[in-house]
Amino acid sequence: MSPAALKRAAAARAVGLVEDGMRLGLGTGSTATLFVELLGERVRAGLSVVGVPTSEATRRAAEAAGIPLTTLDDTPDLDLTIDGADEIDPQLRLIKGGGGALLREKIVAAASRRMVVIVDAAKRVETLGRFPLPIEVVPFGLVATTLAVAAAIRSAGCAGPLAVRKGADGTPFLTDGGHLILDAGLSRIPDPEALGRALVAVPGVVEHGLFLGLATGAIVAEAADGQPRIV
Ligand code: 5RP
Repeated sequence: MSPAALKRAAAARAVGLVEDGMRLGLGTGSTATLFVELLGERVRAGLSVVGVPTSEATRRAAEAAGIPLTTLDDTPDLDLTIDGADEIDPQLRLIKGGGGALLREKIVAAASRRMVVIVDAAKRVETLGRFPLPIEVVPFGLVATTLAVAAAIRSAGCAGPLAVRKGADGTPFLTDGGHLILDAGLSRIPDPEALGRALVAVPGVVEHGLFLGLATGAIVAEAADGQPRIV
């Protein structure tokens, strides 16, 4: 069974959580985009919702799907955010930002009463860190910031290479906010809370991809007898 089929199964289950009148956070990534497309079908069938997109890519997908959009300035309290993740541990702690949208994703998740994560079972881990941790930084002072981030990582008991993310054309990847991403290949993050605290203390760090205490639920799809199953 393809990861895409599992992602679609998780997205379809999440659409079932949406009720008429809800104010929604719309996540970013391939799984969240499937959710947006399926939600669009319900909107076209008469469901009334408004959504806050977590990226320009999701904004375009939501507009194409016919989902009415709003902003956090106009709608600062959201009922439910549905988003994907790069990793999820048993405490619902996440690594996000594989798509580079971690800053807006975290702001939107924090403004939501509930955040439900939609993933295929390959994203489940016992200990976060196999997926490189995205750290969003301002371009100014990049070398100094990178050195300070490396020291923060060591102080939290982690180690591993840091690399500036590149786009498909080989130039530095820029987030929707015009920032850079440092990807930290840590393999294992024994204390995500300690690492999160150390990273936000570094001047120049805008946000990191550890989502701690934000997810309230998860929909995980795995393959069983050739069919997707929600576990
Ligand atoms: C984007 C994200 C995505 O949710 C994460 O990368 C998962 O993406 P996908 O659903 O394509 O596997 O955090 O910043």
